[in-house]
Amino acid sequence: MSKSMEDAVIVAYGRSAVARSGKGALRNTHPIEYAAEVLSAVLNKIPQLPVDEIEDVIIGCAKPELSQRYNIARLIAIRAGLPYSVPGQTVNRFCASGLQSISTAANMIMTGQSSAMVAGGVESMTAIPYMGIGDAVFKDTWLDEHEPGVYMGMGLTAELVAEKYGVSREQMEEFSVLSQQKAARAQENGILAKDIIPVTAVDDEGNTFVFEKDESVRANTTLESLAGLKAPFKENGRVTAGTSSSTNDGVGIVVLTSAETAREKGLKPLAKFLAFSVVGTDPKYMGIGPMEAISKVMKLTGLTVDDMDVVELNEAFAAQAIPCIKETGLDPEKVNINGGAIALGHPLGATGAILVGKALTQLELQKDKYALVSMCIGGGMGAAAILERLSDK
Ligand SMILES: CC(C)(COP(=O)(O)OP(=O)(O)OC[C@H]1O[C@@H](n2cnc3c(N)ncnc32)[C@H](O)[C@@H]1OP(=O)(O)O)[C@@H](O)C(=O)NCCC(=O)NCCS
Repeated sequence: MSKSMEDAVIVAYGRSAVARSGKGALRNTHPIEYAAEVLSAVLNKIPQLPVDEIEDVIIGCAKPELSQRYNIARLIAIRAGLPYSVPGQTVNRFCASGLQSISTAANMIMTGQSSAMVAGGVESMTAIPYMGIGDAVFKDTWLDEHEPGVYMGMGLTAELVAEKYGVSREQMEEFSVLSQQKAARAQENGILAKDIIPVTAVDDEGNTFVFEKDESVRANTTLESLAGLKAPFKENGRVTAGTSSSTNDGVGIVVLTSAETAREKGLKPLAKFLAFSVVGTDPKYMGIGPMEAISKVMKLTGLTVDDMDVVELNEAFAAQAIPCIKETGLDPEKVNINGGAIALGHPLGATGAILVGKALTQLELQKDKYALVSMCIGGGMGAAAILERLSDK
């Protein structure tokens, strides 16, 4: 290698608004269309970076099947009009796919192998319904019998975590009402809109319209409205639709360069990508993944949770977010300041990239330094990353 460790910096980011799957604004639009639109708009924010200098487009996608197959990263790059010389790579780390892709891009830069990369994630849960297609065909019978956790529905894993950590339905409902209130406030005061790139959507009559507002937020959620909901994942269970993330469509895109490239091109480095960790845990308790992942990323950086100014902890379920906050010693006041996935939705592969943008926007508002982004991952994993805002000097 000719170069020593480089700093990988984020120079631009953006996302679509998050739509409800199946019935939402993006239900008639191919994910490549809105992903390419967001990618183009993010690149337009940094005209100083010639697009033919981008060395890879890495896109996370948790279900790279059906309309998301054929290496969707490559297809998005071509649809966005990038030259053929810019390659594309699709990454699947389930719910951390968007964060994994950013980490992979950062690693290429930090090791001196690339100087400009696009990363992010996309998911149309309309295109690939969450409960999967043809379960009986794809399951390995040995795994199904001996390791049932690997094929377990995420809702059931949340029930198991709630039982193990003694999280009551009432605690989950309180957490969820707060998430909805924070998201509604952030929507109202325009904080969420800062990251959103309007995209073209198509209605059932084939007419186009502009989609630019997250659809899943239920501002009028109350403890009373949640108390009446059924528990869909387990008989007499505690987890409900109101305390779960919803199923969604959306995309998030981030552009990273080396600090040197940013300097040369006159790009403003918004934040440095400091470190990433990913860990494995028992698939039946996949929701606890962030616990180990957070402690590992802290060790890697020599930082502590107290150093974190902003935390984006994906709310797959209140059942897992609550014990993750408690066990890692995170300050609840710093977690999901503008609401979490219970209110804003969780378009699986896109979430990591969306949360990175959300964290950076909030860090900038606070003029603070460190953000932690973390999530649990289907199959029993957890991921975490730390970003450092680079202050204007
Ligand atoms: C929980 C889940 C099954 C619900 O799916 P759904 O039934 O299509 O969801 P809906 O939005 O229709 O909500 C179901 C009901 O709860 C109600 N509801 C949901 N959130 C509510 C809220 N905040 N306040 C009040 N009512 C609410 C809806 O109005 C609906 O009521 P209805 O049946 O009377 O119409 C689905 O969202 C899911 O699978 N979530 C988890 C996704 C997941 O596992 N992701 C990966 C994580 S690792």
